[in-house]
Formats: sequence, structure tokens, C-alpha cells
Amino acid sequence: MPAGHFISLEGIDGAGKSSHLEALAAALRASGRSVVVTREPGGTPLAEHLRKLALGEPMDALTEALLMFAARRDHLIHVIEPALARGDVVLCDRFTDATFAYQGGGRGFDRNVLGQLEAWVQAVPALAAGRLRQPDLTLWFDLAPAIAAARLAGARAPDKFESQSVAFFERVVQGYADRAQRDPGRFVRIDAEQAREAVLQDALAAVRNRGWVA
Ligand code: TMP
Repeated sequence: MPAGHFISLEGIDGAGKSSHLEALAAALRASGRSVVVTREPGGTPLAEHLRKLALGEPMDALTEALLMFAARRDHLIHVIEPALARGDVVLCDRFTDATFAYQGGGRGFDRNVLGQLEAWVQAVPALAAGRLRQPDLTLWFDLAPAIAAARLAGARAPDKFESQSVAFFERVVQGYADRAQRDPGRFVRIDAEQAREAVLQDALAAVRNRGWVA
């Protein structure tokens, strides 16, 4: 049985990452891999409930972070861990880097508290004590907030985060940059300002470089 791989896709709203999920999944499946495509917050019935609350209701940053991590715990236990144990590839639209970027960067919430929640939530039975479940690879679709805002304008009605200011998204980008700097082996930055096909090719190359797709 092949080893499971956990790939997360990150970036600000409007960076275009979600539109590449299915193409990445198809390439992996064509290489003979079983793929689970999922998202955060969400991915289980309970986590999808929590998503509606977190994206729909006003709340303070700690409440928001707690809901994100509660959804994440349910998703990890019921979807991500079983998939990795089967040897599947998990393609996850956002994971904990989004909490550091949005709640930590965007909202300015205490990253030490987020780190504590991360340590509790991502300690899973399959890993030795002290180790945390993290993506094996994070594709960070990086785009200037002003360009992302222009792309989002006129799309469907924005949710609570999509309607934030460009300044908020500048802090989110900085949050991603900080996480990438702390974990350069896991992050691959993709220039999302390129044409759509070039962005997809860069994402595929990152997965191919790991030897996970032919
Ligand atoms: P989506 O639009 O990519 O589905 O993501 C939902 C929104 O939730 C997006 O605006 C980012 C935000 N979010 C957080 O603020 N914190 C998190 O931990 C996650 C996973 C998402």
C-alpha cells in the first residue's frame, strides 16, 4: 500500500486555488492514486455546520478560532486520518495555515494561543506523542490583495471574510508568509497572478517533484 500524503491548498479569497483542486485530483488519480478532495472549515456534517456559523455570524477572533479548530478536529478524526491510513492522497482546500493567516494575521489574534490549539487538535493517535499532523505539502497560491479583490468583484455575494478590506488581506498574506518562512520545506509558493494554466502547471510540478504524480 502506498503511503498517504496530505496536501493543503492555501491563499487569500480570490487567489483561485479552489479551481485547481479537481485538476490536481484528476492528475493524481491518473497516476493510480486514490484521492480524497475536502475542505476546511468543513468536510464532515458537523464541520459543515460549524462552517456556516463561522462564515455567517459576527463573533470575536477567539470564538472564530475555536470554531475553526473544532471543525478541524472532527474533520481530522473522521476524514483525514482514515484516508491517510488507507494510503490515499488528501487534497484539502485550506488547513491550519489559514487560521494563522486569517485569525492570526487578518484579525491580529494571539498566535501563541493558536499554537496551543494547534498542538491539542493536531495530536492524533497515529502519531507519536509530541508530533502533530500537518500537511506534507502546502501549495500557497499567492496573489496581491488588490488583484484578488478585483477578481472577486461581481462574483457571488461575498461572505464574512470575502467582504473584508484590502488591508485585512494584506495582513492575511503576511500571515501566510510568516508560516511559509517557519516551514519552508512544506510550503511551495505559487505565483497566482499568472495565467490559470501556468498556475496549474506550477501546482502540478510541486506535486510531481515529490514523486506523487507521474
Ligand atoms: P473558502 O472560501 O476558501 O471555502 O474558505 C472559507 C473562508 O474561511 C475563507 O474566507 C477563509 C476563512 N478561514 C478562516 O478564517 N480560518 C480558517 O482556519 C479557515 C480554514 C478558513
